[in-house]
Amino acid sequence: MTEKVKSLIEKLNAEHSLTLAEYRELIESSSEEAAALLAEYAVKVRKKIYGNAVFVRGLIEIGNVCKNDCLYCGIRRSNRTVKRYRLTREQILECADEGYLLGFRTFVLQGGEDAYFSDETMCGIIRDIKKRYPDCAVTLSLGERSFDSYRALKKAGADRYLLRHETADKAHYEKLHPPKMSFDNRMKCLVELRELGYRVGCGFMVGSPFQTSETLAEDLKFIESFKPDMCGIGPFIPHRETPFRDELSGTLEQTCYLLSIIRLIYPPVLLPSTTALGTIHPQGRECGILSGANVVMPNLSPVSVRKKYELYDNKICTGEESAQCLDCLNARMNSIGYETVVDIGDIRKENYNG
Ligand code: SAM
Ligand code: FES
Repeated sequence: MTEKVKSLIEKLNAEHSLTLAEYRELIESSSEEAAALLAEYAVKVRKKIYGNAVFVRGLIEIGNVCKNDCLYCGIRRSNRTVKRYRLTREQILECADEGYLLGFRTFVLQGGEDAYFSDETMCGIIRDIKKRYPDCAVTLSLGERSFDSYRALKKAGADRYLLRHETADKAHYEKLHPPKMSFDNRMKCLVELRELGYRVGCGFMVGSPFQTSETLAEDLKFIESFKPDMCGIGPFIPHRETPFRDELSGTLEQTCYLLSIIRLIYPPVLLPSTTALGTIHPQGRECGILSGANVVMPNLSPVSVRKKYELYDNKICTGEESAQCLDCLNARMNSIGYETVVDIGDIRKENYNG
């Protein structure tokens, strides 16, 4: 590691901010040594705020019907080989019941963009979960909707919303999505969600096609200014039935490097160590935590639908029961000296005075 890179890491650790050119340089000059120093600082600041707690969120994949056609995504509309499904309200509640008994206090309802899950249907489901489990947080990840829709869902009790921005570079966004999809609208949605009082998560795939150190630097600058409550980053992994089938996956090293940088940019951020990271490497999720992540999201979906929610090839945890997934993650976290906690796990901004 050069003195210059070391000084950039020191600056990021002290000031939580770099210029666009500095982010780019930090990304371009990654090395094992630089990654180790970044991870050391990231873990230190994360421990100061969250101790050795890793928050657990129960992921319920409510449906794989999607009107969109993102070029990277296995459940895109054009993929005719997918067996489509939608969970019923009863099935979703059963997943929440099972999760509650296992100790989960946050449920993440994720799915494709599907008019079937109208405001009326979603509000009913959210209200039911909140009535049954008022001590739980409901997180939604249902893509782009209107301001009025987001408002209705919030009113029904939704607490958080995950909407990865995918890339902060408009030209790059347009290479990953069909012309119908709009970068400006996605960014507008994030602003509206925040305005409505949600805890908001953004994020991007690491190693997505056409990604460069410039686009990544823009992602980091965006995260620095938006200060998301949550930030979902995981490696891009090709899916055999998409136009990006022959592209390479993102790497464990680069994902972990970026996890550490994001922790230092905004120390209180809730940062998942994703299933995609666990898919590209057997110890991927452990490495993510050791780089500064502090959230894991085991799957609570019924086993019968898990394989159908295949965003990328070889996704892990598609055969296990929810309890098995939780046990497995507990053991993995314990093995690296961390404790999973199933409480509501809100962002701790108060412990951070930056
Ligand atoms: N429809 C919602 C949305 O667009 O936000 C939520 C579901 S979407 C499938 C969830 C996330 O999966 C996307 O934001 C994207 O970053 C990620 N994803 C999709 N395809 C992927 C792939 N091939 N590799 C890694 N992650 C992928
Ligand atoms: Fe469904 Fe991208 S293919 S949101």
